[in-house]
Amino acid sequence: MRLTRELHAQSGIAAAAANRGIRERLRGSSRPANTAPGDSLSNIDVPIVLIDRTFHLQYFTPSAGRLLRLRIGDLGSPVSRLKLGLEMPDLCKRLRAAVRDLASTEADLQGSNGQWYSIQIRPHLREDQQIAGAVISLHNIDQLKRMLQEERRSRDLCYSIVEALPEPLVILDSSLRVVAANRSFYDEFEFDRQRSEGKPLLEFAGIPWNAGAVRAVLRLALSRNQAFSGLEIEGEFPRLGHRIMRLRGRRIDAGDPERKILLVLFNDVTLQKMAERRLLAAQSAIEKNLKSTQSSLRETEADLLRSREDLRALTARLLTTQEEERRRLSRDLHDDINQKLAVLEMDAERLRQSLLSPQADAAVESLRGSVAAVSNEIRRVAYQLHPSILEHLGLAVALRSYCSEFSKREKIRVQFSASEQMEKIPDEVALCLYRVTQEGLRNVARHSAAKQARVTLGIKERRLRLRIRDNGVGFDTNEVRKTGIGLISMKERVRLVNGEFVLKSAHGEGATLDIWAPLPKEPQ
Ligand SMILES: Nc1ncnc2c1ncn2[C@@H]1O[C@H](COP(=O)(O)OP(=O)(O)OP(=O)(O)O)[C@@H](O)[C@H]1O
Ligand SMILES: [Mg+2]
Repeated sequence: MRLTRELHAQSGIAAAAANRGIRERLRGSSRPANTAPGDSLSNIDVPIVLIDRTFHLQYFTPSAGRLLRLRIGDLGSPVSRLKLGLEMPDLCKRLRAAVRDLASTEADLQGSNGQWYSIQIRPHLREDQQIAGAVISLHNIDQLKRMLQEERRSRDLCYSIVEALPEPLVILDSSLRVVAANRSFYDEFEFDRQRSEGKPLLEFAGIPWNAGAVRAVLRLALSRNQAFSGLEIEGEFPRLGHRIMRLRGRRIDAGDPERKILLVLFNDVTLQKMAERRLLAAQSAIEKNLKSTQSSLRETEADLLRSREDLRALTARLLTTQEEERRRLSRDLHDDINQKLAVLEMDAERLRQSLLSPQADAAVESLRGSVAAVSNEIRRVAYQLHPSILEHLGLAVALRSYCSEFSKREKIRVQFSASEQMEKIPDEVALCLYRVTQEGLRNVARHSAAKQARVTLGIKERRLRLRIRDNGVGFDTNEVRKTGIGLISMKERVRLVNGEFVLKSAHGEGATLDIWAPLPKEPQ
């Protein structure tokens, strides 16, 4: 519009020049002629038509002649009779308004050539300010019109895209006021379109704006052209109830560097966020449960450990008490009862010598023999209970003696060998290995059906190794009957001297038992 006004202003200058020319020309002749009414006008080819106050054609410029298909012969004709090349609706009415009411009118017209023109009809005043008629000026605004149409079409397209978006969208100016918003925005939050435009976004009541934070992010987006996407607002929304909205936005430079607008999209993420929160709650509940289960497991484990420790301490005490009891019994049998039996044997001998009857002699001799046999048996039992040989002659000798006695008793050939440099072994280790050998060989006799076995004692890297090996039926060590206590007591004895217990066996392959016991750092 500004442009057309400028165009018409130019044509106003041209018209004034034309007026002067006409006035001069009319002074000289009364016949209508379409000569240039002044020097200046002959140089200006703007479509201009002058109509006199009785609405007759008075003058037209060549371009006006071409455009309106006017001929020289038309000069002086009433306008209402002219057949103009451009249909101007209400022309007569407008001319009358200009001449009688001094009113200017303006309109856009499309010619038969399809081109657009802006037409202005103004009163034509003489120098003495009397009305001389009307001036019609025309301007081709086709290009301008098409540009405007194009711009309008682009703008409409943008608006229809924005309108079609299912998410609420607002366009803000640099002071965060609403320039426009789409239908979703108005429908979703029930705002009135008319009253919304121009209003600061953060003053839209009902939305739970976290105003400080939102303003800061929007300002930053505007000033630094920083797009944002994770801004969330949560609370009661008009019509929708409790919602979580995620705001996304970016700045758009609208041509003019001063004119920056901000697009802000509202995204309802309530369901997603709620699901996330439920998931987190479930996760933390699981973690809590897990922690409490873990802690009760730890407690149970600690209880179990304590019970095991108690059990082991009890086993150790039992084994020690058993050994002490065996030692006491053995001593009693050996030192007390056996001494008394020896005295009884000597008494019987003396009685035999003092008797004269041969029958009595034989009876007493038999009695002495029985006493001697009982005495031998008691010595053997005492030895079984506590092998004093262990303390007096050492482990290797005690084991050799036990193996040979076992071979004779069980009819299984047991070979014993010990390394030559056998040093003094701590008493508790010696007793442990002796008892393990007894228990191990007892198992060979009871379960292995072996013809022979081998017991070896050696030292390797400051560790004592006792090996008991048989060539019997063997067994699956993973399926050991839990009723026996032989293997368990062996393991416990070994553990009490900080040793290691290794049992290897399989069906048909005999059994090998290795006991590793630590020796003092320096030989004793
Ligand atoms: N040398 C072996 N040859 C074959 N089987 C064996 C041998 N040693 C142990 N076993 C198997 O291992 C099981 C467990 O032995 P363990 O000494 O613990 O118990 P037990 O001998 O059955 O009874 P307990 O020793 O209490 O009198 C035995 O019942 C036997 O089946
Ligand atoms: Mg056993």
